Amino acid sequence: LRSFVLIGQTALASGEFSVEDLPGSSGRLDVLLRCVRAALLVSHGLRRDVRVYLVLRGGEQPRVVRVSGESAKFLRPDERSLAILVKKTLAVPSASAAFVEVRPGLATCGGDLDAALADVGDAPRYVLHEQGADVRRHALGGPAATFIIGDHLGFDAATLARLDGAAYQRLSVGPVSLHSDDVVSVLSNELDYRYAVPRDA
Ligand SMILES: C[S@@+](CC[C@H](N)C(=O)[O-])C[C@H]1O[C@@H](n2cnc3c(N)ncnc32)[C@H](O)[C@@H]1O
Repeated sequence: LRSFVLIGQTALASGEFSVEDLPGSSGRLDVLLRCVRAALLVSHGLRRDVRVYLVLRGGEQPRVVRVSGESAKFLRPDERSLAILVKKTLAVPSASAAFVEVRPGLATCGGDLDAALADVGDAPRYVLHEQGADVRRHALGGPAATFIIGDHLGFDAATLARLDGAAYQRLSVGPVSLHSDDVVSVLSNELDYRYAVPRDA
């Protein structure tokens, strides 16, 4: 399984945002939703072996939303419809650290980064960082991996210290600092070259 963990430093955990004005009302959940699209949706389909975790730190209590390609239905690529799904998921209260599936493929739990990391399994974990080892020269060891990515604000110092403390390797996708969803796209493309089976093969 491939997992992307997106850390939304300001993204609202309450669901109290307007889908008509996501950038202005959601603490930039739009940044994370573009990552969901880039990670899960391909032309005419879904990547069934991918999960995306949105760590929502805006508001009083952090929460995590998990979007799973294996069971998701009705995922559409536009941010508005993804925002509606996330809003409906967040409408279900979840203080516990166990994920509760709210709709097919959409689950939520109370908690922060550690709740997401407790759920991703044992695959190697990487921190996507501008000052990291070049992913194209790095043997990932297989298609299963967990990639941790910052939002428009990057990583805060405490989070970076937590990740470095766990000795997760830093990987870079190039010399330029990209938007988070572009990082997801570049990584997915790199993994496709290594591991994807072309449809007409
Ligand atoms: C828009 S960037 C963060 C920019 C933020 N202003 C900063 O200075 O950290 C969003 C996230 O994408 C990832 N990222 C961006 N460019 C990258 C690159 N060239 N290689 C690896 N990860 C990258 C990092 O996880 C980063 O936190």
